[in-house]
Amino acid sequence: MSIFPKDFLWGGAIAANQAEGAWNIDEKGVAITDTTQHGIAKNEHDEEVLPNTFYPSHEAIDFYHNYERDLELMAEMGFKCFRTSIAWTRIYPTGEEESPNEKGLHFYDCLFDKMLALGIQPVVTISHYETPLALHKKYNGWENKKLISLYIKFCKTIFERFGDKVHYWMTFNEMNNTQTIPYAAAAMDLSGSYSHQLSQIYQAQHNMYVANALANKLAKEIMPDAHMGIMLSLSQAAVYPASPKPEDVFGALQLQRRTFVSSDVQLKGCYPGYVKRIWDEYNVKLDITDEELDLIKKYKSEFLAFSYYRSSTFEDGMKIYGDTGGVVGKPNPYLKNSAWGWPVDPLGLRWMCNLVQDRYDCPMFIVENGLGAVDKISEDGKIHDKERSDYLKKHLKQIGEAIKDGCKVIGYTWWGPIDIVSAGTGEMNKRYGFIYVDRDNDGKGTMKRMKKDSFNVYKEIIETNGNCL
Ligand code: BG6
Repeated sequence: MSIFPKDFLWGGAIAANQAEGAWNIDEKGVAITDTTQHGIAKNEHDEEVLPNTFYPSHEAIDFYHNYERDLELMAEMGFKCFRTSIAWTRIYPTGEEESPNEKGLHFYDCLFDKMLALGIQPVVTISHYETPLALHKKYNGWENKKLISLYIKFCKTIFERFGDKVHYWMTFNEMNNTQTIPYAAAAMDLSGSYSHQLSQIYQAQHNMYVANALANKLAKEIMPDAHMGIMLSLSQAAVYPASPKPEDVFGALQLQRRTFVSSDVQLKGCYPGYVKRIWDEYNVKLDITDEELDLIKKYKSEFLAFSYYRSSTFEDGMKIYGDTGGVVGKPNPYLKNSAWGWPVDPLGLRWMCNLVQDRYDCPMFIVENGLGAVDKISEDGKIHDKERSDYLKKHLKQIGEAIKDGCKVIGYTWWGPIDIVSAGTGEMNKRYGFIYVDRDNDGKGTMKRMKKDSFNVYKEIIETNGNCL
């Protein structure tokens, strides 16, 4: 018998802004990600979309016009679910319109209908680094409480429209990344002293916690059977101490808590003590009301979805920085790095599942895991991406171990089952897909799709419900 539950949600995940392209088609507004030429990892962006400038995500892989045949390929692999986001700017181009853009709603109707016709369950991220640019410019994004009501208006529209088609929802992609990539994660630029910057970060996170609670409340009213989850980057939490030195060990714990504060608040319903100490020590000034704290307590989330790509190593005194894949630390001599310098650590994934189980005892959904690598077409005309298949199998084996440990893992969606634009760097050459897309870093190529060897590897894993691992 398989270790994986019989209704395990096997699938893949993308984000609208990294795949759809069609950035200004059908009355779509400008999103913050439309202004990044080289990805989001460094928080660099233009104030507007500049003329005659190449933005890789503007066309991306043109999933907007190719989703039918792309989804057919996912169905061929046996996908039970497919995670994508609803681009906020397709529905509310500036975020502040009174009524939604029907053309945008129509696109997602067609997309979800196609998935359902193929037997694929849609899994939706409501906000995946795609806040309308207008809300960044006017309010500095989530730093301002105004975003809460605008986000809830967006939620109401999509819950009412798609509630009978979509049963798994995540409110924000990797909200804990507000600490390291505030432009993408919170549509916000940081300014002033460190204490001011921390105040901006914690205020933005708080505003998102309130929005999350209100979205959970609304979901209960509109779609009583829906499953509402939060989504965090747990690569940020997989931090090893560089040595048994107490300062290394305690520092690693503190860094790990920078992630778990988001799940502590949204799954347990209140702020933990350790964060209040940070606020005191760094003179963090926040606007938090009792009414908001009540909402957070009352409308907790049901499951924890997370991404996991790699782990990191902390040494006392180190300056820690992060990017899309998690915190970057000291090199770990026991692990090999990917071509993009990310330590490959399958056991770290079992560790994260167990941490989540012990801390929250809630269902967990691994919604991002994958290997970004350069793919070459061989002389036989095929792509032999053994490294990707090995990464896949090793991580799935550890998920199997975690399930044996008692972790309630409900599903697994590989990141980028079809090649898409890298969020961190804007490259096309950083490929995750089981399906190759003929497009390069400069936007050249035919957009033709082609199966890699890993396509059949994942297909067999799904077919046997993980028994072939
Ligand atoms: C996750 C993001 O952190 O990492 C995705 O949710 C992103 O949007 C993924 O694509 C991988 O990062 P990158 O930089 O390799 O695309």
